[in-house]
Order: sequence, then structure tokens, then C-alpha cells
Amino acid sequence: MTEPQPLSGLERIQPYRPGAQVASAKARLAANENPLGPSPAALAAARDELARAQYYPAGGAPELVAALARQHDLPPENLICGAGSDELIYMLNLAYAGVGGVVLYPRYGFAMYRLSALACRAEPVAVALDAGERLSVADLKTKLAPAPRILFFATPENPLGSVLPVETARAAVAAVPAETLVVIDCAYAEYMPRDYQRDTLALAREHSNVVMLRTFSKAYGLAGLRIGWAYAAAPVIETLHRVRHPFNVSRMAAAVAVAALGDQEWIRKSAEHNNAARQNAEQRLRSLGLEPRGEGGNFLRFDLPASVAGDADAAEAALAGEGVLLRSLGSYGLPRTLRVTLGRDDEMNVAFAALERLLASAHA
Ligand SMILES: Cc1ncc(COP(=O)(O)O)c(C=O)c1O
Repeated sequence: MTEPQPLSGLERIQPYRPGAQVASAKARLAANENPLGPSPAALAAARDELARAQYYPAGGAPELVAALARQHDLPPENLICGAGSDELIYMLNLAYAGVGGVVLYPRYGFAMYRLSALACRAEPVAVALDAGERLSVADLKTKLAPAPRILFFATPENPLGSVLPVETARAAVAAVPAETLVVIDCAYAEYMPRDYQRDTLALAREHSNVVMLRTFSKAYGLAGLRIGWAYAAAPVIETLHRVRHPFNVSRMAAAVAVAALGDQEWIRKSAEHNNAARQNAEQRLRSLGLEPRGEGGNFLRFDLPASVAGDADAAEAALAGEGVLLRSLGSYGLPRTLRVTLGRDDEMNVAFAALERLLASAHA
């Protein structure tokens, strides 16, 4: 019997596997969320906005665009909002990649670059990493024929946590043809030093083929509301508006994001907590004989020692049985690596106790 057939190529997509979400978990450290939650100002705005839920959002989230423009001193015509940066990644692929178009992304880079390129029936191609686990510009130069439609990379990258020096990002932009869109995903920007934030944004300001992506899902603690934004040259923004769903950012999301932007003290506190939690987690991993890896963002990763018989998927499952949610990087092709979000102190204590038991049981 004939039946409707999906377009060829879509069978290559393994749907994105999110970090585990179990409401009753003692330590939710699988999805790089902000352990401090949203700012109190954001919560108040959410309660307020709910009373207006019968109204459609203003398409294009103009109030949020205006607030972002003020906050970051950017022209509003260079900004667009999405339902998370995931949606912006998809819109970029939809508008610029095309069927069979080459989309470059770093090996082990954030999964959605590849998955959403495949959804748009483009051809994702991985660029190798250098010895420092960062995008290799030398390898990038070998992958420029045919001219790629898009080059995506994040800094810090997820899940590796590697930070691309601004000079390397600059060299990557200089290496690709002017017709290639370079998307610099700064999802974890607020955890980075101000100079670094300024310098990555400068790249997008200086080059009409460079896009910067940001999100409210990390330091702003609003992952559940789905809000991301992009800065790019006006023609790119105009193009993205053509493929944008009319009401892609909900009223609630936009209102809450505006309020969250107004509470920069919350961002400062979140970044400060993150720095302290990183130092602490690095020390504790080392004291368990594990090597902490990753430089930036709100997470670390480590490899399981050879004494643990099972792989990272098995370790993830065993830890989840104790109410501790970490993220196995098996689906990224790193079968012995676990990623841990830098959570609240109580979560980290529970997680390290469970991890210690896991390691001890391997030696038993
Ligand atoms: C590098 C990177 N880009 C984008 C995203 C997606 O963020 P959003 O929640 O804004 O879709 C993530 C989420 O983990 C990420 O790590």
C-alpha cells in the first residue's frame, strides 16, 4: 500500500535528546540551566502578563527588541528574537542553507547545528578541532569548496566547554568566503568576561556576514520560556523575518525577558555563583581522581576512569536512579564522558556523593 513518504534525508535525523528532566530530582545538572532560577523581577512580570493571555503577541517582539537595543547599545533593526536560539539556528538554516548546501560546524559542537541543517535538507560537515579542542582554522580552510552556506560555532562551545580566542574567531571569519554566513553562538556570553563579550559582538558589527546568537536560557534562567535573539546586518535580519512564524515569541516570554533584562544584578550574581561553583567542582573532581575539562559556560565535563566498567550512558542511568541528573555525552560520540552543570551547593553535594559511590562500586 502506498503511504505518504517524508522527504529523503530526514531519516538521517536522530531527534535531539535533551538533558534529563525529572521534577523530583535532587540535583538537576543535565541541561545547563541557571540553578538560581529566574530573577524575582521576571517572576513578577510573568504573573502580571498572564492576565493578558487572551491577546496575541505583537509579532516580532518589538518591546523586547527595543529593550535589547537599549541594554546592548545596538540598533533595533539589527536584532531579531526567536523561541530560543534553537529556533534562530533553524531559521538561519531554512533561509540560508538550502537543499544540499554545505553547513559547517565544529566536531562535537552543539547538536542543533547539524540536526536543523538536516531538517532543512542541507549537508552538515564537521570541521576538525585543534589540539586545544577548538575549531581548527587549518581544517576549516580545507572545507571551503564548494563554498559553505553557513559556518556555525559556539564560544564557549557546548558540550566541550572550549572557548575560542577572539583572534581565532576572527581568523575563521577571514578564512571563509564573504558569501558564507558565520554564526557565532554566544549562548553562555553572560558567564564570560565583559571584554570577551564586547570583542565577539564586535566581530558581528564589523562583518555583514557574521551573526551573533544569544539566549535567555542560561544566565537569565528562562530556558522554559524559550527566548533567544540574534544580532546581524539588517539584510540578514530582514530575511529571517520573512521565514519567522508570526507569533514565535509568546507574550509571556517577551514580557518576562524585558523584566529580566532590567535586573542585571541577577546576572552578576549568577555569574559570580557560577565562578565559585566551577572552582569548587574542579577541586572536588580532582579529589576523586577525575580530570575536569572545559573552560567556559556553566558546566564541566569529565571522563570516566577505566575502572568503571559501564559507559557514560550507564553512569548517567545509575546516577539518575539516585536522583542525580548529569548528561552523558554518548550521543555526541564521547561514550565515556559526562557533563555536569554547575548547580547550587546542595545539588553539587548530592551529585558528588553519588559520583563517589559510583566510583567506589567500580573498585569493589
Ligand atoms: C551552545 C548552545 N547554543 C544554543 C543552545 C540552545 O539554547 P536555547 O535554549 O536558547 O534554544 C544551547 C543550549 O544548551 C547551547 O548550549
